Amino acid sequence: MTDIHIQNLTKRFGETIALNNISIDFPAGSFTSLLGPSGCGKTTLLRLIAGFEAPDNGAIKFDEELIADAHRQKTPEERGVGVVFQSYALWPHMNAAENVAYPLKTRKVAKAEIASRVETVLDSVSLGGFANRRIEELSGGQRQRVALARCLVADAKIILFDEPLANLDMHLRASMIEAFRDIHRRTRATIVYVTHDQSEALALSDRIAVMHAGNILQIAPPVDVYHSPADQRVAGFIGRGTPVSGTVVERHAASALVDVGGYRLSARGVVNGSSHVQLLLRPEALSLADKGLPAKVQDSTYRGAIYETRLKLPNGERLTLDSAAALPAGTTVHIAVTDAWIIPD
Ligand SMILES: Nc1ncnc2c1ncn2[C@@H]1O[C@H](COP(=O)(O)OP(=O)(O)O)[C@@H](O)[C@H]1O
Ligand SMILES: [Mg+2]
Repeated sequence: MTDIHIQNLTKRFGETIALNNISIDFPAGSFTSLLGPSGCGKTTLLRLIAGFEAPDNGAIKFDEELIADAHRQKTPEERGVGVVFQSYALWPHMNAAENVAYPLKTRKVAKAEIASRVETVLDSVSLGGFANRRIEELSGGQRQRVALARCLVADAKIILFDEPLANLDMHLRASMIEAFRDIHRRTRATIVYVTHDQSEALALSDRIAVMHAGNILQIAPPVDVYHSPADQRVAGFIGRGTPVSGTVVERHAASALVDVGGYRLSARGVVNGSSHVQLLLRPEALSLADKGLPAKVQDSTYRGAIYETRLKLPNGERLTLDSAAALPAGTTVHIAVTDAWIIPD
């Protein structure tokens, strides 16, 4: 197991600052997702860890060993990092087994050992019967499993994934998410998983690093990123629910009583400065009640398990409620709030 330490890393491409002085540790055996919109620097960070790019500033260490800084960089081969890309990057002229065997062949592992390791690893990704299939005879999901097997066969202590599910349909994604979790349990490798899909990040990782424009906004377990986002940008990027403004009536150490449109509710979080705060109200913390926050129904959209109902508060701000039935537009309802988070400034 290997720790990855990223210290004050900066990477520029001409005028673009792809990574802006970022620092983050990936503890040995952890599963961290890098989550953020397209262009925020996720792939760049992965490529720097793998050794396909050199930093302009800062350092990368594996445990205590310096792997790269602006002056010296170890080659990708010396780093021994496994990488799985969105585009499977398989050899089209080799069959599945030959693709998986490739990293062992280049390391001159004995033939018999290669054969047995390839067989074991193909089994582990449910491709036991596909060893002799040509790549073009495999579906997208099977190709991604071959890429995964090729990465696993090398027994890397660090595995990097760059949006590995982006080309797969919804059902395949669900089964691959299971496969990734299983691989993490078995290998205990240090995994860094890049995605712009929050549901993947929430489902897979023990920590999420939320990125924006070359910076890391928050590093926290999925539950904290979802329930206690570090700022407006994280709150807006993860989950549903828009910020609502309120006025603090009473301050406590880690909570406050807040007035929203004449209705008082208890909110988690610390009020440092002004008594005007922004609250995050997630749909699952809201329910219809006899007493509560007054709001006017805008529309209800059927989502299968629930109706997603959009509401307008007296001050014009919006709120989203999950309701069991469609609510008629224009009616006034009252909303009970079981959880609210004071978004830090
Ligand atoms: N080889 C490159 N040359 C020039 N600009 C690049 C290169 N690679 C990435 N960038 C730029 O760096 C920024 C971050 O890109 P990237 O790391 O690919 O983002 P993400 O993976 O989060 O979508 C973007 O503005 C992108 O256009
Ligand atoms: Mg990318």
